[in-house]
Amino acid sequence: METKIISIENIDEDYYKLNEAADILKSNGIVAFPTETVYGLGGNALSEEAIKKIFIAKGRPSDNPLIVHISDKEDLKKLVKSVPDVGEKLIEKFWPGPLTLIFKKLECVPDSVTGGLDTVAVRMPSHEIARRLIGLSGLPIAAPSANLSGKPSPTNGDHVIKDLNGRVDAIVCGGDSNVGLESTVLDISGEIPVILRPGGITAEDIRKIAGQVEIDPHIASDPNMAPKAPGMKYTHYSPNAELIIFTGEEEDVIDRINLISARLMKSDKKVGIMTCDENLDFYVGNDVLSLGSKMDYTEIARNLFFTLRKFDDLGVDVILSEAFKLSGIGSAIMNRLKKASGNNIIEL
Ligand code: TXA
Ligand code: MG
Repeated sequence: METKIISIENIDEDYYKLNEAADILKSNGIVAFPTETVYGLGGNALSEEAIKKIFIAKGRPSDNPLIVHISDKEDLKKLVKSVPDVGEKLIEKFWPGPLTLIFKKLECVPDSVTGGLDTVAVRMPSHEIARRLIGLSGLPIAAPSANLSGKPSPTNGDHVIKDLNGRVDAIVCGGDSNVGLESTVLDISGEIPVILRPGGITAEDIRKIAGQVEIDPHIASDPNMAPKAPGMKYTHYSPNAELIIFTGEEEDVIDRINLISARLMKSDKKVGIMTCDENLDFYVGNDVLSLGSKMDYTEIARNLFFTLRKFDDLGVDVILSEAFKLSGIGSAIMNRLKKASGNNIIEL
């Protein structure tokens, strides 16, 4: 399939270019586009045909449900049975933005979108291109992250082209995703809101508005940490290189990473080290990359997927990474990092 690449430099001048992308969506084709979290691969959420194409293009297991994206708060009513009070408050505060909410769904939302569940996940992105494109299509747009299943999520147009060129109808390129990690997924279909996936909006942010919030136990003690067949690796967000995370006192982490790096380089492995600005000079490896200052976790989050992909471009065999604190957006950073490593964590 020939993929049309649509570049948007300046949204006001290049606005007309989105018409073509919107037409593709209207005729049940699939289009990748930027959002403030990560790039999404969109299709008409009410069309079985479009949804099927999304799953095929990504190589995604079909029981993993998709998030439906809207450009106007009013459009929510067309997808969900009701909006609980807590939902109203959260929408008022966080939409448009990186918060996905889960509601009881209406009949019109196909099972293929929700993985057969009676709930639907909805998000209103804040990214100008995303909102204008969805608005032009006049449709609710189902969109998973625009990466091949298992790979790190894409945070710029080049990442998407690398994964999906030739597999989708069009790719809208529109710069870097500002948040860099996928949205927070919050289930408000039950009594108490439950975070199913940590993200840009933190548990603390939600608690301030919702009063209470629970964190799905699978996040804290990842189900994938359960004993598994040896060698079986859970792959999600994964770079090609083996990724190992080191937790503990900073000095111990630096010493151990350098020790392992030296051993690996001696056996002709190409070693990548992932750290923060403050520690950049303390490491010896083939490629030492910083995610940003440890004083600014939003920067670390923004650069995480970008840097994992960068290590792949550099062709490293192993990535040795520092761990990050679990407070605020740190829990989302560690959630992705742990999954990317297949829970390959060394506690010092
Ligand atoms: O930031 C984002 O959320 C990005 C951009 C493109 O908007 N999208 C994204 O989609 O990350 P995806 O498909 O990669 O992740 C969707 C997550 C999955 O963890 C899925 O299991 C969960 O949302 N999800 C979707 N519908 C659900 C439902 N009805 N109940 C529980 N979890 C649901
Ligand atoms: Mg994804």
